[in-house]
Amino acid sequence: MSIHDPEDDVTIDNSLVLREDGTYPERFENPGHPEHHDRMGDSDPKANKKAERQVVFFFVISILATIGFLIAYFAVPPGKTPESMRTSNFVLGIGLAISLLGIGIAAVHWGKALMNDHEKSEERHEQRSSDETREAAVEVLKEGAADSAIGRRTLLQGTMLGALALFPLAILVPIIGNVGGDWNVGQFKHTMWKKGTRLTTDPSGRPIKASDVTIGSVFHVIPDKLDLQAHPLDEKAKSIVLMVRLDPSELKEAPNKKSWSYNGIVAYSKICTHVGCPVALYEQQTHHLLCPCHQSTFDVADGARVVFGPAKRPLPQLPITVDDEGYLVAQSDFHEPVGPSFWERLT
Ligand code: FES
Repeated sequence: MSIHDPEDDVTIDNSLVLREDGTYPERFENPGHPEHHDRMGDSDPKANKKAERQVVFFFVISILATIGFLIAYFAVPPGKTPESMRTSNFVLGIGLAISLLGIGIAAVHWGKALMNDHEKSEERHEQRSSDETREAAVEVLKEGAADSAIGRRTLLQGTMLGALALFPLAILVPIIGNVGGDWNVGQFKHTMWKKGTRLTTDPSGRPIKASDVTIGSVFHVIPDKLDLQAHPLDEKAKSIVLMVRLDPSELKEAPNKKSWSYNGIVAYSKICTHVGCPVALYEQQTHHLLCPCHQSTFDVADGARVVFGPAKRPLPQLPITVDDEGYLVAQSDFHEPVGPSFWERLT
């Protein structure tokens, strides 16, 4: 029903008007609870025992998967080839997934099939509970603990504790195994670049003459004679470089890096110093190089300084020059590890 307020010339829905006692009119009937149906396990001890065995089964699955993970961690190391890394990651991932899934399914099934199924209603109340309610909540928790019958179900208790106690090992063992190690940082200190290695186009491997590089052009570059049979794929990934030619007058070079470019041609590692995506989007007008993953932006004209985004350090620069035939060559390897900067902090 609606009423019209002539003073403000508005119509108000009367069903929403607050009563003087602070309550709203009843707008619909309280439908109450649907009819309660007991679960089989509530009346049949056999069904109850069966549910318990199912929970135990999933905890045991979790235990076996964690043990499998630990064995695989030592028995299937990542190796050096992409295939062996994939295999190792796959086996470890499956172990972790089944281990967690086992605990999850066991916990849910325990709650659904074995815990108290009594229906309870609670009226809404103000946010802070009264002291009595809080005490009641503690009682309910205690009741829940008693309902789970953890004291009586010793097998279930043992397997649950076993699953929960073992699972952290799947995280701790790999971490402890690397404490004091270099977390493979050493691998990123050296790439295939060395003094005299020609810069070639990726993927054709064609050497690049400095005279062929026009101002504004961009080259994706790999070391000359990159033999992927002799060198695994990750060696190529580490060595890949982005080369750009700018007007030499636009280059801002640190005093100790003035000789690292050639006629405005500069070369930087293509691996983003944030988390390692390949930076590849070059904006010729601003000289900005953008990483598509999280938008870190590097100024190629200013030592690949970070001008935006989450990366914390510039892209490592590859010092270059030309050989006797005018081909671009590296002066040396990179002078710092390529890739994400957390490696730098660890060394
Ligand atoms: S990996 Fe480049 S911005 Fe995150």
